[in-house]
Amino acid sequence: MFLLRRHVFNVFMNGNKFCLSSLLQLYPINCSSHKRLRRYAHTDIPKPNFDEYRQKFTEDPNISYRKNVDERRALKSMVSFVGCVAGLYAFKAHLLHYVLFMSPSRDILAEAQLEVNLNNIPEGKVLVVKWRGKPVFIYHRSQSIIEQERAVALSELRDPETDDARAKRSQWLIVMGICTHLGCVPIPNAGIIPGGFFCPCHGSHFDAAGRIRKGPAATNLEIPEYEFINDDNILIG
Ligand code: FES
Repeated sequence: MFLLRRHVFNVFMNGNKFCLSSLLQLYPINCSSHKRLRRYAHTDIPKPNFDEYRQKFTEDPNISYRKNVDERRALKSMVSFVGCVAGLYAFKAHLLHYVLFMSPSRDILAEAQLEVNLNNIPEGKVLVVKWRGKPVFIYHRSQSIIEQERAVALSELRDPETDDARAKRSQWLIVMGICTHLGCVPIPNAGIIPGGFFCPCHGSHFDAAGRIRKGPAATNLEIPEYEFINDDNILIG
């Protein structure tokens, strides 16, 4: 700005003629009216003081600039490394939290399968066990009840299934204790069918194989997954 101001002044002092090259001052000589123009060194311009912005370690000329820079770089690297380690550790903890959250808890895993001993169930009785929060009927059927259910014609049934298809071992019937109408718990050894199940909510009757025989329920009692571990124990689930 200072150069420009001085040059404009010179232009005016040399005949009030404007010359673009003289403005640039790098190419001023082609203009005949400004032959007396010369460049100025401008050594009288005070230098701005940037001390306020200088880094302290650069003020002492006896201290190596390189040494200071290396120290600062080492510090920065160390801080970055510690930050990365802390970040990775936090990420791992966060990830672990989600993985553990998604996996089933121990009590759920314990409920996934249920082992039941059959020795304590007398013939003609039903043991009710809780599996995955729902009741399961384990019915020890007598021979007369088995024969009664085998004699039922499929044509009489609303949801036709043979007795053999519903009981892996004929003396043991294992069904979910939930009515297929609206989910009430039926009463064992009740209803119009001898040895059957009766749902008191809306009056559904199931036979001793858990098949629907009368009432609003449309389907038979559900059979859970189970297997015989041996003659005396079953594993549900
Ligand atoms: S819930 Fe069992 S009959 Fe309606």
